[in-house]
Amino acid sequence: MPTIKIDGRTIEVTKGTTLLEAAQKLGIYIPRYCYHPKLSISGNCRMCLVEIENAPKLATACSTEAAEGMSVFTGTDKVKTARRDMLEFLLINHPLDCPICDQAGECGLQDYYMKYSLQKSRFRQEEKVRRQKRRAVGPHLVLDNERCILCTRCVRFCAEVTKTSELEVMQRSDHSYIDLKEGKALDNNYSLNIADICPVGAFTSRDFRFKQRVWFLKKTSTVCLGCATGCRMTAHHNENTIYRLVPLPNSQTNTWLCDHGRMTYKAVQAGDRLSKGVIKNGLIDLEPALREAATRIDEAKSEAAVLGSPWLSVEDNAALARLAISALKTVNFCFEFSSGQGIKDGILVNEDPAPNTAGAGLLKAAHGGVSLEELSGRIASGRIKVLVTEARAAGLVKTALKTSGCRLIVFAQNRSEIPAGAYATLPYASYFETPGTFINYQGLRRRTNPAVRPADGVKPLWNVVNKLAAYSGTSLGLDSAENALKDIKL
Ligand code: SF4
Ligand code: SF4
Ligand code: FES
Repeated sequence: MPTIKIDGRTIEVTKGTTLLEAAQKLGIYIPRYCYHPKLSISGNCRMCLVEIENAPKLATACSTEAAEGMSVFTGTDKVKTARRDMLEFLLINHPLDCPICDQAGECGLQDYYMKYSLQKSRFRQEEKVRRQKRRAVGPHLVLDNERCILCTRCVRFCAEVTKTSELEVMQRSDHSYIDLKEGKALDNNYSLNIADICPVGAFTSRDFRFKQRVWFLKKTSTVCLGCATGCRMTAHHNENTIYRLVPLPNSQTNTWLCDHGRMTYKAVQAGDRLSKGVIKNGLIDLEPALREAATRIDEAKSEAAVLGSPWLSVEDNAALARLAISALKTVNFCFEFSSGQGIKDGILVNEDPAPNTAGAGLLKAAHGGVSLEELSGRIASGRIKVLVTEARAAGLVKTALKTSGCRLIVFAQNRSEIPAGAYATLPYASYFETPGTFINYQGLRRRTNPAVRPADGVKPLWNVVNKLAAYSGTSLGLDSAENALKDIKL
């Protein structure tokens, strides 16, 4: 446990701690480009140079381990000059792209130039080394070699995190550039993390490019519902439109996001988003759709069934449980979903594609109900006349529904989700529009937070369920999401 001093402040650190990490613990920020806490140390950008007492030269803080008795200085004239020189060096061949660069506003070069340099270039523009400009290097990324500062974060990410090694540094010295290895495309399921970790505008997201200047974006922390891992993330949005999802690194679950998860916001603002009900194939206002669905439920009485959903929040499943127990007074309800859970790709993606299998299980624990197998059997045998469920959950009993004659009433957000043969479809608010509780595969409770507003008339699912019951003549008393939770132990 070496004890060292940084800028006169003493700190004891574990063996192997670098000076950069030790400084961070003291709240002292040392600039860096190539360093990333989740990648191996490369020590190539030299932005993190610090002075060590009695050492003949400046040292890179990201690669120098703390040793007993060291006294380190992060803000001496020598250090400041070195930072300015490194920035001048990195900017020699950098193009004057800021006005048209997507990274502007969150660029490491812009930020450090303002903070540590502010000097004029001594190099003439015509002497700059030219590099290949924008080109697509995979389904999600564009690479602009001229903006690259060769920090190699992207190369190390592909070698160490995804282990797909698509990238490498070609050539030597000022001829160096990043490129794809022969025959490779940057199409791994984590490729968009490269746009995040590239400290400049060399790698940018094809999806996000030129959609929005970053300083207009508002940020809402939420959780990804792309699978049972439940990665924490931030939705970046402006004027009721989501523009991108980025990871919210945390020690419990995720540093990164997978590309599939990043694209989950698309459905919220897709052209087939439902704001009205659908009866058979025809669009109809929500109230008449609710009335029609309630009439069919009433006809079926205790032969109606409710299937919860591992894609819905605990609140929305709780509302469905109340519908089954208080309004339908049926024993035909199911909140039990078994799925293999665990990371299947060694990084983040879960075996279970649904985000809330564990959360739905809380309703099973509170109210019992039948197993999915049992419910499927009852549907297949024709004993269930109407099934109320969420669109994707309907897929779990697809085979049973086929020849059963059972009427399907589903809750769906997009037209593309509606299962074939559905009798009535009722729209509901997405979890980018309404709060909800989800329990991930580790048993961690996570909340979604609304980043955007739903279309007029589109309400959270618990609210739609409350109205549906009211049309059947029962008050479920669901006046808030919290109220839906009162029967269960979270
Ligand atoms: S493309 Fe970006 S991440 Fe990759 S080496 Fe260049 S600056 Fe670094
Ligand atoms: S691993 Fe799962 S929870 Fe994480 S970003 Fe991907 S889809 Fe979302
Ligand atoms: S951050 Fe230390 S050399 Fe790049």
